[in-house]
Amino acid sequence: MTPQDIALIRSNFAQLHRRKIETACLFYERLFTTAPSTRALFKTDIEAQAAKLIETLTVALAMLNDPAGLTALLTRLGERHRGYGVRPSHYDAVRSALLWTLETSLGQEFTAQARAAWSELYDQMASTMLAAGVASQRSA
Ligand code: HEM
Repeated sequence: MTPQDIALIRSNFAQLHRRKIETACLFYERLFTTAPSTRALFKTDIEAQAAKLIETLTVALAMLNDPAGLTALLTRLGERHRGYGVRPSHYDAVRSALLWTLETSLGQEFTAQARAAWSELYDQMASTMLAAGVASQRSA
């Protein structure tokens, strides 16, 4: 990711800051509509879950300059996700719901370049989480 990509993501994120819970709830509604099989995996209150998702994205953004630290964080997160029953195909559903939510919430601010930057960030995070999930499955 280029410094410009990172700046774009940070700027989108700052714009969503005041409506972060609302935006995260929109994301879960979209996910449960487009991929209903994911609904049963969530046991906790969606608002609390939404806050955690935002928190992790914030940490990931803060850690973009520390790839080793970010990889360690995502490896543990990926292992826990396997434990929650998350399957590899769910990562695509989450990706689509995330991009749809950003587009809906940000409107014109969500430029083609911003979409490309978010896609790359998500793909990097998801591939690290998935690799960890598979590794923990092998050792289980
Ligand atoms: C970049 C991708 C993702 C991030 C950053 C993320 C982040 C998080 C965080 C921070 C938690 C809180 C618990 C913990 O830290 O272990 C969590 C829980 C969870 N996530 Fe994710 N997640 C991602 C992808 C997914 C995907 C693809 C699914 C599939 C539907 C999913 C389903 C869940 C479920 C079911 C829980 C547990 C909820 C509960 O205990 O009720 N996540 N996620």
